[in-house]
Amino acid sequence: MVKAVVLGAAGGIGQPLSLLLKNSHLVTELGLYDIVNTPGVAADLSHIATPAKVEGYLPPDDGLKKTLTGADIVVIPAGVPRKPGMTRDDLFKINAGIVEGLATGIATVAPKAFVLVISNPVNSTVPIVVEVFKKHGVFNPKRIFGVTTLDVVRASTFVAEILGDFKKAPDVTVPVVGGHSGVTIVPLLSQSSHPLPSDFTGDKYDALVHRIQFGGDEVVKAKDGAGSATLSMAYAGAEFAFKVIKAKNGEKGIIAPSFVHLTADAAGGEALKKEIGADLEYFSAPVELGPEGVVKINPLGKITDAEKKLIEAAVPDLSKNIQTGIAFTKKSN
Ligand code: NAD
Ligand code: LMR
Repeated sequence: MVKAVVLGAAGGIGQPLSLLLKNSHLVTELGLYDIVNTPGVAADLSHIATPAKVEGYLPPDDGLKKTLTGADIVVIPAGVPRKPGMTRDDLFKINAGIVEGLATGIATVAPKAFVLVISNPVNSTVPIVVEVFKKHGVFNPKRIFGVTTLDVVRASTFVAEILGDFKKAPDVTVPVVGGHSGVTIVPLLSQSSHPLPSDFTGDKYDALVHRIQFGGDEVVKAKDGAGSATLSMAYAGAEFAFKVIKAKNGEKGIIAPSFVHLTADAAGGEALKKEIGADLEYFSAPVELGPEGVVKINPLGKITDAEKKLIEAAVPDLSKNIQTGIAFTKKSN
């Protein structure tokens, strides 16, 4: 029995993500919450002949509390998306408050749920959720995740494209580490399950790294003011949610990159800091999942000099983004 909750369920990501969760036999109850339109989205989804019982709530009459009651996993795609010319950090002003409010609800009503944060800027919104949980005395670093799966999905797709075989795309895995914005997104192409051609170096390599780091901008530009990635994000969010649920159900050996607090695995977190060469509180790294959430933060392993440089370049922005999130919750106390 798994109750999944989507906060921001009527939005561009929220609706297709809710559809994918409803379509899965892993979910037996689906709670939808938004400040608009959730009763309609819930009524619509509830006609699909799959096991999950669907309910949708709005803020009045304790809607958030009703949605979160009994939640095992809460996915948060609530908040504003980018328009052309904006960075993810430009969203902080609005989204920080939204995420703080929702995190307060989760910490109060469902403190043991797995929390999957999609709202941008992820590098700062995850620290906000963590600080709220700490404030309520319910912080468990093993259960709070920043969703960076879309970077992994993009990297896999682009590598399959370069290999000239889209049929391979579902099997290609490329670890992407660091954070979720611009230069903080670090693809470890040398660890791709399907190696790139040996002459894929220099400008070709740089262009692929850039495309993975700025893949979000490609979609924002193409949508031309109508928002950012929604459908690919819903796919990626559902994929990650299913991994968390399967691990909760006892499936072994599930590993996925996610932006986590580095105390989630004391030994692994400390070792990772040494590998990165910086005392960061958070990092997206391949984490092994189990019934209680993070079991182990895996090391980066063997990486190339070029990848080491990418990590060095990611650290200053990551550190700043993390501090911005932490400072916000201190200010609003
Ligand atoms: P959207 O505007 O289409 O949907 C957002 C939804 O959030 C809306 O339905 C809105 O009503 C709702 N909302 C606003 N305040 C709320 C609150 N207090 N409580 C509940 N719901 C609330 O935006 P979108 O395209 O779905 O994007 C949502 C967020 O996800 C953005 O911040 C975007 O940048 C981010 N995003 C992250 C990734 C990632 O890889 N992590 C990928 C794509 C988008
Ligand atoms: C993405 O990577 O597509 C998202 O973070 C949305 C964005 O603003 O680019």
